[in-house]
Amino acid sequence: MLSAEKIDAKTCLSVVRIKGMMTSILVSLLLFPLVSACTESEHSSEGVNGHRIVLADREPGNWLSHGRTYDEQRYSPLSEINEDNINRLGLTWKYDFDTHRGLEATPLVVDGMMYVTGSWSRVYALDATNGRLIWQYDPEVPPEWAVNACCDVVNRGVALWNGAVYVGALDGRLIALNAKDGGVLWSVQTTPTDRPYTITGAPRVVTGKVIIGNGGAEMGVRGFVSAYDAGDGDLLWRFYTVPGNPEEPFESPALEMAAETWIGGKWWEHGGGGTVWDSMAYDADLDLLYIGVGNGSPWSRQLRSPGGGDNLFLSSIVALRPDTGEYVWHYQTSPGDSWDYTATQHMILADLSIDGAVRQVIMQAPKNGFFYVLDRKTGEFISAEPFVPVTWATHVDPDSGRAAVRPEAYYGYTIFDGRPSPFGAHTWHPMSYNPNTGLVYIPAIDSNFPYKLEEAFEFLELGVNVGIDGAAAAWPVDPDIRKAIRQSMKGSLIAWDPVAQKPAWTVEHKTSWNGGVVSTAKNLVFQGNGEGNLVAYSADSGRELWSFNAQTGIAAAPITYRVDGEQYVAVLAGWGGTMPLVQGGALTHAANKNVSRILVFKLDGEESLPALPVVEKPLDPPENTASEEVIERGMVLYHRTCFACHGDTAVSGGVIPDLRFTSRATHKLWDKVVLEGLLKSGGMVSFSRILDKADSYAIQAYVIKRAHDAKSELSKAQNNGRG
Ligand code: HEC
Repeated sequence: MLSAEKIDAKTCLSVVRIKGMMTSILVSLLLFPLVSACTESEHSSEGVNGHRIVLADREPGNWLSHGRTYDEQRYSPLSEINEDNINRLGLTWKYDFDTHRGLEATPLVVDGMMYVTGSWSRVYALDATNGRLIWQYDPEVPPEWAVNACCDVVNRGVALWNGAVYVGALDGRLIALNAKDGGVLWSVQTTPTDRPYTITGAPRVVTGKVIIGNGGAEMGVRGFVSAYDAGDGDLLWRFYTVPGNPEEPFESPALEMAAETWIGGKWWEHGGGGTVWDSMAYDADLDLLYIGVGNGSPWSRQLRSPGGGDNLFLSSIVALRPDTGEYVWHYQTSPGDSWDYTATQHMILADLSIDGAVRQVIMQAPKNGFFYVLDRKTGEFISAEPFVPVTWATHVDPDSGRAAVRPEAYYGYTIFDGRPSPFGAHTWHPMSYNPNTGLVYIPAIDSNFPYKLEEAFEFLELGVNVGIDGAAAAWPVDPDIRKAIRQSMKGSLIAWDPVAQKPAWTVEHKTSWNGGVVSTAKNLVFQGNGEGNLVAYSADSGRELWSFNAQTGIAAAPITYRVDGEQYVAVLAGWGGTMPLVQGGALTHAANKNVSRILVFKLDGEESLPALPVVEKPLDPPENTASEEVIERGMVLYHRTCFACHGDTAVSGGVIPDLRFTSRATHKLWDKVVLEGLLKSGGMVSFSRILDKADSYAIQAYVIKRAHDAKSELSKAQNNGRG
């Protein structure tokens, strides 16, 4: 009989595929030696391969790939923790990270080991039963590279394959580590180092190929996805998502077709966007790899492709052959994307009974606010309905499958009140599909945004280049208006019926940025939230069953796994990511420090969290001596170059310093920080390439003014409190 090692993953996959197609006894007998050899490797810690992931339901105790299974359902058949005993769920271990930036990763668990990433693309291997650190790997991403990351120095996790752990580093490297000791097996640079590319997404490994995308569309790059040989890191294929300069030969017939949809403009000079920064899925039967493609760069079509056009493959789901990277089909969610409506969001494969027939579907709730159900074999449109209020399109035409975009949504130099906002109606936060309830659980956001072109937009060498008037888009400084806007931004957990295309139930949250989701066989849905609680709901009704105070906002998705017969629930707790950086926290939150941890629960777990240290940061700005004009100019410059990290209107979300609280001593060093890179080792680079001394002074004047605004707000609040 063949030994397990001699059978590669591909053979196992084809066995699985053939078995899936034919169930005759003869075929089973013929394939028996192969099938059993494939099965033999099932519990060796070395052997996470395609066969194991395809058959992941045979080993529900493990969480072998990003979405647990290739279909990315994030549903767990484990049932030991259930509705009847959930009140006994308690913390059993925690692991404190050594960084305090955003956490978005999904841990993987195999045979008692947990592999997870923290901020700065660092990898940790832990004993999944007690949190003991087995090894740690730091790719030593240069802190200066952080300025190229639109949305914090986050990472969404690793992939496992044949004894190796794969991580995409923020600076564009793809690194293979030995799963046993974290030693580097190979490392390749997947992106041009002279462009502001980043990687935050988790790789997937499919038929022995590590598939990795990248980000950077906010800065100005050309999106692509690449496949590397899992064994030695050789580049096998690359699929560009937007056409290059049409004067030059196209890389593929698909791009020649795509180029027809870009009209006028010189998008290729800064790349055009279309980055594949998060979601992928794989169907082993159909042998199709699905990638989710991001927004245009800059955001507005008018700046990229002034003659109009759909600008393929922006905001599209694209199906590729995983062995060659060859294009098979695409579906575009937002034609001529101008709103940062990425289609990089979580894609789930499932078989649904629709109009009396079982359809093989792919489902997505992209940023644009519609929930899509497509035929995953052909890309044929099945249905789409909005899951939050939308203003950019009236509906999706059921015959053509094309969004009916309101003409005014292609904004110019006057404000278009767009809903959803660029934060999305739903962004990278993983959903879950529960085959028992038939529902998809969506961490949804309802928010709007004043889209307006930036006057005389020019690409800058450093930082964000979205072509939006950031100062106009900044929330008004008036505290009452701010409060009203904050209240109008809502977050919810929506249990969506993908067949009926309507919600079954909704839980409203107090904050708009909440965590990803996992659901289980025994009617449970787990989600962390911005208020800092991990909550369990009943999957069919949304009734809250259990809650744990994690002391810090949660954005990542929980997982559940089993070791030695004991079921665990794990989640990364820690604040960060886009909205926490850009959308400032409430004044009282602004000086709070982030707490970054892995929290793991089991029945009768008895651990607790230590009390949070109280951090008092005095609000003691220098005198304001600058003129109104200078402050005004400072406001515009601030919202062009600083707001993406320090928060709009200089109110930070609590992760990166709130500049209103900057001390007088640091204010004396302002130019050294802003123009000379004094704090570059902490991720605050010099901006001297795009700002001069007068600019730096103007920004400082604006920040000082905002600190005085905050002081008077505080004393008003205190007086009210006394009165
Ligand atoms: C890519 C994210 C990023 C951007 C963009 C950014 N900063 Fe920073 N900034 C940081 C980080 C991170 C720190 C903390 C560094 C440390 O602790 O060593 C920081 C710290 C600072 C500090 C010190 C604050 C204190 O109280 O200690 C100042 C001042 C500052 N930044 C000003 C600016 C200005 C002005 C801009 C725009 C021109 C800007 N920053 C843009 C990330 C950023």
